[in-house]
Amino acid sequence: MRKKVTIPDILKMKQERRRITMMTAYDYPFARLVDGGGVDAILVGDSLGVVFSGHDNTLSVTMDEMIYHTRAVARAKPQAVLVTDMPFMSYQVSVEEACRNCGRMIQEGGAQAVKIEGGMNMSHVIRAVTSIDIPVMGHIGLTPQSIHRMGGYRVQGRKEQAERIMEDALAVQAAGAFSIVLEGIPSSLAASITAELSIPTIGIGAGPDCDGQVLVIHDILGLCEKYSPKFVKRYAELAPVITDAVNRYVEEVRSGAFPTEEHSFN
Ligand code: KIV
Repeated sequence: MRKKVTIPDILKMKQERRRITMMTAYDYPFARLVDGGGVDAILVGDSLGVVFSGHDNTLSVTMDEMIYHTRAVARAKPQAVLVTDMPFMSYQVSVEEACRNCGRMIQEGGAQAVKIEGGMNMSHVIRAVTSIDIPVMGHIGLTPQSIHRMGGYRVQGRKEQAERIMEDALAVQAAGAFSIVLEGIPSSLAASITAELSIPTIGIGAGPDCDGQVLVIHDILGLCEKYSPKFVKRYAELAPVITDAVNRYVEEVRSGAFPTEEHSFN
């Protein structure tokens, strides 16, 4: 069995130029499968609002939902670092509320670290949370909780916006984050940020030069047919496999081919 991955291990991976792998999981069976696949970090992403609960965006995800899913993932006792997302409105109102809610994710959810969206505007929150020894992963660029400000899921940091995204990255690092997700920004900007920062960058739609990558498990398995962004690579097409299995079950029950003696008790 591989060794439990820690937060210092993630930092060391950048120093040793070893690429970091992160994948989402929202429940116990997927946590076991994802951990068994060998990732360094599991993210209980608030993307669960879309791919698990069927909402159009992540804004309605609550603290209670995130704690419920984080506990289910923690029960798999993953060797990977367990990071959980702070949902919209759980950390923006005040530093006190942010610290209390981040603490709940560790204490009640069993996470090892929390992820907070935002750059310079959230650096005071990241500083407060890290000062009480809760490791924080930052998240800048295309931040899904800012969908209304951005006018949709649009690539951020093109042209004159690039400087602001770099400043966001530096602010998140200075506030004490141990790593940072770069989402939906041009590859060249992600490469410059990665070269500039001493903490690892984890890319999603940010090109090949980040220190690591993260994707949503439902996307790589072809389970979420609603949308498939350009940055996703599908490593399996499970939706038709599942529908076919259910079809065969339905046919066999209707025809009487299932259950047989083999599946029955005397
Ligand atoms: O919610 C999520 O799954 C995320 C990743 C896509 C980075 O934030």
